[in-house]
Amino acid sequence: MAKITDGLTKQAEALLGWVDERLPVTEFWNAHLAKYYAPKNFNFWYYMGSLALLMLVIQIVSGILLAMHYKPSAEEAFASVEYIMRDVDWGWLIRYMHTTGSSFFFIVVYLHMFRSMLYGSHREPRELLWVLGMFLYLLLMAEAFLGYVLPWGQMSYWGAQVIINLFGAIPKIGEPLTQWIRGDYFISDATLNRFFALHVIAIPLALLMVVVLHLAALHQTGSLNPDGIEIKKTKGEDGIPLDGIPFHPYYTVKDIFGVAMFMILFAFILFFWPEAGGLFLEHDNFVPANPLVTPEHIKPVWYFTPFYAILKAVPDKLMGVLLMGASVLILFFLPWLDRSPVKSIRYKGGWYKLLLTIFTIAFVRLGMLGMAEGTPAQTWEMRIWTFAYFMFFVLLFFMSPGARTKDVPERVTH
Ligand code: HEM
Repeated sequence: MAKITDGLTKQAEALLGWVDERLPVTEFWNAHLAKYYAPKNFNFWYYMGSLALLMLVIQIVSGILLAMHYKPSAEEAFASVEYIMRDVDWGWLIRYMHTTGSSFFFIVVYLHMFRSMLYGSHREPRELLWVLGMFLYLLLMAEAFLGYVLPWGQMSYWGAQVIINLFGAIPKIGEPLTQWIRGDYFISDATLNRFFALHVIAIPLALLMVVVLHLAALHQTGSLNPDGIEIKKTKGEDGIPLDGIPFHPYYTVKDIFGVAMFMILFAFILFFWPEAGGLFLEHDNFVPANPLVTPEHIKPVWYFTPFYAILKAVPDKLMGVLLMGASVLILFFLPWLDRSPVKSIRYKGGWYKLLLTIFTIAFVRLGMLGMAEGTPAQTWEMRIWTFAYFMFFVLLFFMSPGARTKDVPERVTH
């Protein structure tokens, strides 16, 4: 076992002893790293959790640096961002780290969620872990939306206009609610100010707190693995799971390798293709906000477009808003919609592979259609994929209990 005292001098050990009597550092180290046993068969998909943590840190650090130069006022916001890009030392890099970073954060989180759907990580006893993850996802969406308004470009302004107006579709309270959100009769300086406060303080604080809960819930149940087998069920005489290995040093090293590979990719995009041709940072947002000129084609950033397509697929505004809300909310219930006796796709059989493939295509295609102009043909296609999206959950619920599955082995495979 890797001891926390490994490599320490006598004096450092004595200091740690002094601290341990007052703060349980060694106890924490052992409980969560050196004596925390994780399944030995983690694969590529298990990098995503640590990468999500990395992205959170990158966003916070680059965000703090941006906030040192950014001015949260309708008069100055756009110019202050241009100043960061042109005049602040390394300002362009800091800004791109934050904007490209937000897209990378979503890529990682979508892959992280998809892993659950592959191996059934959200199934009993990890339902709460999943639900906390969903709260993280909602907070992340709120954070990204609020942040996008801050540069006060055309898409900031008009994107906010579209999203805030969605609340106006709610009967009776809709109109006063939109006013309450904006803090004005239209999107103005007051709106920008409160969005700044929420973006830099309130939401990040909530995110950090929920991440702690997410990890606490993870360590309560322990990780699942690609076989969907609970390693705690087969323990050795020493009480240690036979298929478990200490998180430290085995997975700390593996995660550091993942971080290094990811950073190479991130740096490559950051330096050579930071706006991804308008996908990560839209061209319209390099034009200052103008309440009198509506951009030709208002659309959110790619990570919102699957849900935006569901909104646009419905002709009625209120029904569209409800369906879009439902498309996110239904994910909360995934642990209870999947009633299969086995967790992992490896043993679930062809029916699940087919369902998940169609669901994935539907999600990606909706994302692409959400960015498109919205011709009548595209609108019809959105309807078809919206139907497919929801049918995944319906079919999962009804098919999963009775569908034929393969035998699950006792111990993890390689
Ligand atoms: C800020 C965002 C997030 C962070 C920092 C984060 C972090 C982590 C970490 C470090 C792990 C353990 C490593 C791993 O299994 O990959 C983990 C596991 C997990 N996360 Fe997240 N997560 C985030 C968002 C989400 C979201 C949005 C969901 C789903 C809605 C989710 C669901 C899960 C589940 C089910 C596990 C357990 C996997 C297993 O045991 O097989 N997480 N998360």
